[in-house]
Amino acid sequence: MKALILSGGKGTRLRPLTYTGAKQLVPVANKPILWYGIEAIAAAGITDIGIIISPETGEEVKAKTGDGSRFGAKITYILQAEPAGLAHAVKVAQPFLGDSPFVMYLGDNLIEDQLSQFLEQFEQQQLDALILLRQVKNPSAFGVAKVAPNGQLLGLVEKPKNPPSNLALVGVYFFAPIVHQAIAEIQPSARGELEITDAIQRAIDRRCNIQATQLTGWWLDTGKKDDLLEANRIILDSYLTPSVKGKVNPDSQIIGRVEIGINTEIINSTIRGPAIVGDNCRIENCFIGPYSSIGDRVTLIDSELDHSVILEGAKVLNINQRIVDSVIGQRAKLNVAPQRPKALRFMIGDDSQIELS
Ligand code: DAU
Repeated sequence: MKALILSGGKGTRLRPLTYTGAKQLVPVANKPILWYGIEAIAAAGITDIGIIISPETGEEVKAKTGDGSRFGAKITYILQAEPAGLAHAVKVAQPFLGDSPFVMYLGDNLIEDQLSQFLEQFEQQQLDALILLRQVKNPSAFGVAKVAPNGQLLGLVEKPKNPPSNLALVGVYFFAPIVHQAIAEIQPSARGELEITDAIQRAIDRRCNIQATQLTGWWLDTGKKDDLLEANRIILDSYLTPSVKGKVNPDSQIIGRVEIGINTEIINSTIRGPAIVGDNCRIENCFIGPYSSIGDRVTLIDSELDHSVILEGAKVLNINQRIVDSVIGQRAKLNVAPQRPKALRFMIGDDSQIELS
């Protein structure tokens, strides 16, 4: 069994963060989204992992993620020259996949359920494919499935105007090698992509044995700002273990589950968990509220924030109104004079500088 993680594509919906970086490397609770997928796959005992990368962000993904040894896995990077669709990515990965069955995992998704139970179902029932689904309120934004009461997959359609059900494909698929044949038989869709949904539909038409199963835990597609904040909230809620490695001065208060990295200084500040602060940060005269993730090398002085994600190297100074529901990009600098309006909401790209004076 192999794994194929898709970490190419353009990431247009997370712009401006993704002008300068891969969307799959955007951190959730200070860890790249992509790494959660790698960990889930390795935890299911699959250690031969191919990662699809794009020419624009591939080097960054490689440099950050490495050869897989930190995950107990072996990673092979596979360049997809253009984002020509999920089925196109599988086609490009064919030399890596050979005739092995594989799990395909979209690199910007997070799921709570363990993969091993689905792997077991796929193997025990000798399926040609197993597709994971979740009920959603807005099925038109996803691939949508029609399923028989016994779990047999009857049909699929990508982002339909009139969805046949509220069951969305969550971006985790188990495939037998027969999928390559189905992909070879499809044509690009109206949006110009080779769609994996079309390939699966082709396999259904050929009477392949394809089952669908619904997740029981949460599923997070981190494609947009609010999804990212929600993923951050759920991960901090579910997994954060308190630990203080940095220096907290006696005038500061750490309340609830808080993780503080090495060489970080907390001076005259209150941090209310769940919250995480990375390494080499300086937090002075601040309030940091629940569901906040502060990356490495961040400086926060005379500021308040809550339910926000601050990326590496950002500087936030003199923001006495509370920053809420915000994502602040790498190395961005915010410096606001006193007497500003009561609420500020931001999505600020990497290297931005904002001064309200
Ligand atoms: O999130 C679940 C949805 O993911 C499913 O419901 C849809 O059926 C499926 O098509 C997909 O839709 P998205 O619009 O979210 O796909 P996106 O373009 O965001 O690509 C998903 C991941 O695959 C992302 O990490 C980028 C990567 N990718 C995408 C394309 C088109 C590639 O590596 N190569 C590609 O050519």
